[in-house]
Amino acid sequence: MKIGIDAIAFSTSKYVLKLSTLAEKRGVDYAKYCVGIGQTEMSVFPPNEDIVTIAIDAAEKALSAIENKNEIDMVIFATESSFDLSKSAGIYVRHFLGLSDNCRIFDLKQACYSVTAALQLAKAYITCNPNSKVLVIGSDIVKYSKNTSGEPTQGGAAVAIVVSKDPRIAEFEPYSGVYSTEIMDFWRPTYATEALFDGKLSAHNYLKSLDICFERYLTSSKLSEQDIDYACFHAPFCKMARKASKQLFSDKNIDNSLIYNELIGNSCSASLYICLISLLDNTKENMDGKRVGMFSYGSGSVAEYFSLTVSKGYDKMLTAKANREMLSNRTEISFEEYELFRNNQALPGKIYENVGKVTMTGIVNDKREYSVKRI
Ligand code: HMG
Repeated sequence: MKIGIDAIAFSTSKYVLKLSTLAEKRGVDYAKYCVGIGQTEMSVFPPNEDIVTIAIDAAEKALSAIENKNEIDMVIFATESSFDLSKSAGIYVRHFLGLSDNCRIFDLKQACYSVTAALQLAKAYITCNPNSKVLVIGSDIVKYSKNTSGEPTQGGAAVAIVVSKDPRIAEFEPYSGVYSTEIMDFWRPTYATEALFDGKLSAHNYLKSLDICFERYLTSSKLSEQDIDYACFHAPFCKMARKASKQLFSDKNIDNSLIYNELIGNSCSASLYICLISLLDNTKENMDGKRVGMFSYGSGSVAEYFSLTVSKGYDKMLTAKANREMLSNRTEISFEEYELFRNNQALPGKIYENVGKVTMTGIVNDKREYSVKRI
């Protein structure tokens, strides 16, 4: 049975900070950001937008391609930006999308690796339940402290992926190379709202993990590097993905996979899958039957190299124009607003739009409240 990605979509904030603005305010040469780390913009989130509201928007777009939404009987919400240590953020998503209540829902966490773990679970679940569909969501908003080296690598987005048999976008191949190790390269204690990190150690461990995973992938698949037609790498910042590609393949061009990430910043769990959407949307050649190598890395750390083959007719499932417009239509905010957003505040009296139909209206009696926007 063929199992894989039947629908995929992403969503991000309606607001953006240009890294040229950040560079000027922090007294850094802008070339360090746009050339040195390869980022030009980052999505920033007003207080009424969170990992749930952007996830609902991404999921609504992905589900628009699914005829019978009642076939979805599992929702896996992968995130490291959770605001609740007990309740799954996926419960709000099911509710606002009106999916069947005959549905298993849970969160999954392992830094940026979590969507890959969710896809592995979904694949096993569909193997046992061929008529089911699983909605996998990765949603993260990444915050580092002000004036740190991580600050220009913030960002955020949600990706929604429907996993099923006979997938219309890409099929999972059975091969994988996995590597895990205990390392303090990036972490967020439960009491902290911003991630802590050892930047150089994290970059070193990312590349070390890549080598080990790729070697194990080649051994398990009996393939060689020439058998990989296209490649996507987890992109905490685009230069990291470029270094990774250079380490494996001296001549592979991964520009098409990084077009969206360069404008969004690090979206952690969603990042690798936004690379995949960007690759599919922006590659001019027909990719029917081509193999895409995927490298997933989550600090702490767990990493996996695996591959997909693109389904025949995948291009009919793409929404490239809408994706490009979502990014180019974002409103640029001032540095003052960026500093306010960091603390979940906003300019008094100014109304900030949500990307989708649901807005986070506040926290009352320690309960997060959401409502559907009136159009
Ligand atoms: P840094 O210390 O600010 O930067 O940290 P740098 O001094 O290493 O410079 C970066 C690059 O810019 C260098 O190029 C410089 O030469 C260049 P490279 O040697 O790397 O090719 N540069 C310039 N280029 C042009 N003009 C200039 C200029 N100045 C310098 N004027 C660092 C960079 C990535 C470490 C930092 O941004 C950071 O700590 N980020 C956060 C951690 C991170 O993203 N780690 C990535 C791997 S871990 C991961 O992927 C997991 C993660 O997504 C979390 C999760 O799993 O949940 C983070």
